[in-house]
Amino acid sequence: MSDRYEQWDIVSSVGFTALMVAAGRAVETNRDGGLVDDPWAERFVDAAGTPQRLPTRPEEGWPRTGQDPAVAAEVDAFWSVMTTYQGVRSRYFDAALTAATERGIDQVVLLAAGLDSRAVRLSWAAGTTVYEVDQPAVLEFKDEVLAEHGAQPRCDRRVVGVDLRDDWVSALRAAGFDPQRPSVWLAEGLLPFLPAAAEADLFAAVDELSAPGSTVAVEHFAPVFESSAAHPAIVAFGAPFGMDLRDLAQTEPRTGPAERLTGMGWSVEAVPSPDAAAGFGRPLPALGSGIRMNSVLLTATKPDQ
Ligand SMILES: C[S@@+](CC[C@H](N)C(=O)[O-])C[C@H]1O[C@@H](n2cnc3c(N)ncnc32)[C@H](O)[C@@H]1O
Repeated sequence: MSDRYEQWDIVSSVGFTALMVAAGRAVETNRDGGLVDDPWAERFVDAAGTPQRLPTRPEEGWPRTGQDPAVAAEVDAFWSVMTTYQGVRSRYFDAALTAATERGIDQVVLLAAGLDSRAVRLSWAAGTTVYEVDQPAVLEFKDEVLAEHGAQPRCDRRVVGVDLRDDWVSALRAAGFDPQRPSVWLAEGLLPFLPAAAEADLFAAVDELSAPGSTVAVEHFAPVFESSAAHPAIVAFGAPFGMDLRDLAQTEPRTGPAERLTGMGWSVEAVPSPDAAAGFGRPLPALGSGIRMNSVLLTATKPDQ
């Protein structure tokens, strides 16, 4: 375990954001016509047992801390859109990973896997290995809950507990990752939490470890943080949990992932999340608060040489 960087578990610091997005997936799962079916998400929320329970049902509002009713209404509206957004990105990345494995790629790397349940949720082709990389305590919590419910991975699931600002490449290779064979990578809900240098190193490492034909799928969430992290409704959103996204977000300027991957010679397809949502028949309503869910979802492929 690294002693150079702050560590966290599922109820602290950045770890808590994994629980928060799992709650969003739970709501979307429990919604008629939800874009994701993730029964594990609610189990994780239940097992975490936070003093203020995170909502997992569409009819539940976001906990409040006595803020004025207008801000509380904005928080609820944001949470409702956020849960739809979780469904949108889940559906988009499920498709990207599945398409890559259907092309014969048998190594999947979930960077900052958090409470991503794809290893037990999706049908993987025989012989697929799914590596889950995240902080050790986050993955220990996840393993405990999966074991408690007798989860059966539908792939060869390998847990890699390491800090992504540390030497995660060695840890991944030690877990069996083979850079000679094509791979598919996912960075969902990760980039806003990485310092700019760690993000640059991460993409350089992904490029280095990716054989031709590899794919990387990325959520570029920075535009949402940039426009909204200081908004009163977002501050009120974190307050019941003692969380302030302004403390967690890493905001040093950096090259966007589409430009970076293009510069590395990868071929990039990007879609603004509102367009992806509309394409799934679940448009993201504009928020009266002015908060904009204007992230970009992208998939890039490393060309054959
Ligand atoms: C918003 S959650 C996303 C989790 C998951 N990808 C999902 O979409 O459900 C952010 C995750 O990033 C992980 N994370 C952030 N920075 C990290 C780092 N430096 N090393 C390892 N994990 C990190 C956190 O522990 C957390 O699980």
